[in-house]
Amino acid sequence: MQNIRRITEDIFYVGASDRRLALFENVYPIDRGVSYNSYIVLDDKTVLLDTVDHSVSREFLENVEAALSGRALDYLVVNHMEPDHCSVIAELVLRYPGLKIVGNQKTIQMIKQFYSFDVDSRAHIVKDGDSLSSGKHTFTFVFAPMVHWPEVMVAFDSASGILFSADAFGTFGALSGNLYADEVEFEKEWLDDARWYYINIVGKYGVQVTNTLKKAAALPIKMICPLHGPIWRENIGWFIDKYSTWAGYVPEDKGLLIVYSSIYGNTANAVDKLAAIAADKGIRNIHMYDASKTDVSVLVSECFRYSTIVFASPTYNAEIFPKMEALISELKAHAFQNRDVAVIENGTWALSAGKKITEALEGMKNIRFLVPTISVKSSLKDEGLPLLEELAEKAVESVNA
Ligand SMILES: Cc1cc2nc3c(=O)[nH]c(=O)nc-3n(C[C@H](O)[C@H](O)[C@H](O)COP(=O)(O)O)c2cc1C
Ligand SMILES: [Fe+2]
Ligand SMILES: [Fe+2]
Repeated sequence: MQNIRRITEDIFYVGASDRRLALFENVYPIDRGVSYNSYIVLDDKTVLLDTVDHSVSREFLENVEAALSGRALDYLVVNHMEPDHCSVIAELVLRYPGLKIVGNQKTIQMIKQFYSFDVDSRAHIVKDGDSLSSGKHTFTFVFAPMVHWPEVMVAFDSASGILFSADAFGTFGALSGNLYADEVEFEKEWLDDARWYYINIVGKYGVQVTNTLKKAAALPIKMICPLHGPIWRENIGWFIDKYSTWAGYVPEDKGLLIVYSSIYGNTANAVDKLAAIAADKGIRNIHMYDASKTDVSVLVSECFRYSTIVFASPTYNAEIFPKMEALISELKAHAFQNRDVAVIENGTWALSAGKKITEALEGMKNIRFLVPTISVKSSLKDEGLPLLEELAEKAVESVNA
């Protein structure tokens, strides 16, 4: 059964959600699923903006057919050529032989790499700032390179004021009936997913995202239609602010994040003690994670969120404990920067985890160490308490700065 949703008089949502997929990009454990959004404009010419992942292709094709109700599809705009939005292109070409594919040079090249049909004869190539009219609607294409992939562009429709924003402003989480961010408890129920999605998918490209936000600021945007998650029509400025914060590597929340690894429980005990001291000193926003329990992508997202972070790890075969090592290397891969940090190491005979974590963090931009590395030999003893006190004191200053 088709499940199309009317957005404006002549623009419809034709995407669908997947709650089965365990790992998005075969990496991110999306317990709440994901939606693959696609939009169709029924103007003098019919225009489809992006397609979907193969997992929801059946629903999508039914939706497109129902929306067109007998008309042909004239244009497919490919804002982003990643397969989660593009796996249905060849099928559309078979169903709608007159279809023109709108994309930039890079997009068209990528379509040729992914597919074997005759792309050139259908290609409508656009440059940055070019427009395409379908009748009442005029779509202006703004390139947003590396807002996930190099070919990414967004399309602004001046008639409706809709920004078709590709992966930007998207989030993990399947849609459950409500299509708009203002119809759900976004801050309470979606923001963590939105941050997790942004930081892991495009977090590395803060500079490019900032540039795109500047370009977008010049547009009279009334609605943002992303390729994942709900549509924005109210409070758009609030969400754009979140994006500026994340893209600027500015801590979103003042708070103390403690991420630790522990084999036998002694490092866990040391940071539990630290957290208690910090709480006694008045810090309220304290969050602790065992790096072996929580997915590394969630930890990366939390590290981007908070102002003040303690990393604690046992030494493991003269290295950082593997789960902590994975976090540190993921942080580096996501251009993590601009935080107050502290390192706690543990070991029984030759401690080297602290030095290794510190070296890795020193290689990142604008990382301030609150105190020298604290070393715990097997288990925390009374003589170690003053060091934790000092760290907690510095954490208070950092959180209140
Ligand atoms: C596989 C393995 C390798 C380890 N390698 C080292 C090491 O290279 N240097 C060291 O000082 N301790 C090493 N340890 C010991 C732990 O780092 C040490 O016992 C630490 O106190 C454990 O902290 P935890 O109680 O938080 O797990 C190793 C332990 C294991 C299980
Ligand atoms: Fe993407
Ligand atoms: Fe995507």
